[in-house]
Amino acid sequence: MKIVRTVSRASQLCRAVNEGLGRPVVLVPTMGALHAGHVSLMRKARKLAGKSGTVVVSIFVNPTQFGPKEDFSRYPRAFARDCRLCADAGVDVVFHPEPNEMYQTGYSTFVNEERVSLGLCGKSRPGHFRGVCTVVLKLFNIVGPDMAVFGEKDYQQVAVIRRMARDLNLPTKIVTAPTVREIDGLALSSRNAFLSAEERARPADLARRVKREISTARLAKIDYVEVLDADTLDTPGEGTRQLVIACAVYFGKTRLIDNMRRKA
Ligand code: PAJ
Repeated sequence: MKIVRTVSRASQLCRAVNEGLGRPVVLVPTMGALHAGHVSLMRKARKLAGKSGTVVVSIFVNPTQFGPKEDFSRYPRAFARDCRLCADAGVDVVFHPEPNEMYQTGYSTFVNEERVSLGLCGKSRPGHFRGVCTVVLKLFNIVGPDMAVFGEKDYQQVAVIRRMARDLNLPTKIVTAPTVREIDGLALSSRNAFLSAEERARPADLARRVKREISTARLAKIDYVEVLDADTLDTPGEGTRQLVIACAVYFGKTRLIDNMRRKA
């Protein structure tokens, strides 16, 4: 497994597809502190790439998608452990740039999706999806992947990236993988590490309770619970085929998101 820290080396390695690395190139973008959810994406990428293809995992805590009062500096970082997990999952290349490698002094170009990104997390975290779209497009431009794998846990993120890919004619195919959960139903998240024992005991409770459409739990502060058209993220209407129930809930200072889909 190769570990690459510069844009130029990543570009050269992934695009030239020499040095024993072949096509298809499949990218899994992450912010590190990897867990079984990320690993399931890597395994899916490995299957998609086949024996001769190339799996690239990016590990980059992207500053532009964090608001000024959010957890960028305390976001968990565990690079050595992440590399072991990547190697075990059959990853070929880990791309791990420093922030100033991705955003040079005077950086001033951003990608704005102006519809799918407006509600849900976009409403609570202004600028978040602008940062996500910008970094994902940059990663696509650096790596040149044939496919990129994203988790359904971040439902709106996938919808926004699909829209960006369609609108900007990106050649990369967007592939999704199901949400990996703890046995009690809590969706795996790098941020789960922030939860106190008591807070940890509650989100799983809440997941069950939200499923039963009950919207309160001790220590939980609901940011939103919304039922929307799963494709457009608009209010469900006549054309709606699938619904998504999406929620964001604070436990202490930690904000977690989750979603479920249902036939309309
Ligand atoms: P991060 O939160 O590290 O997640 C990386 C990928 O793992 C995303 O596609 C996310 O949906 C997926 N993922 C996270 N938890 C999961 C779970 N429990 N089951 C399945 N998949 C899961 O999402 C980001 O990073 C960033 O916004 C990024 C796309 C890398 C851009 O910076």
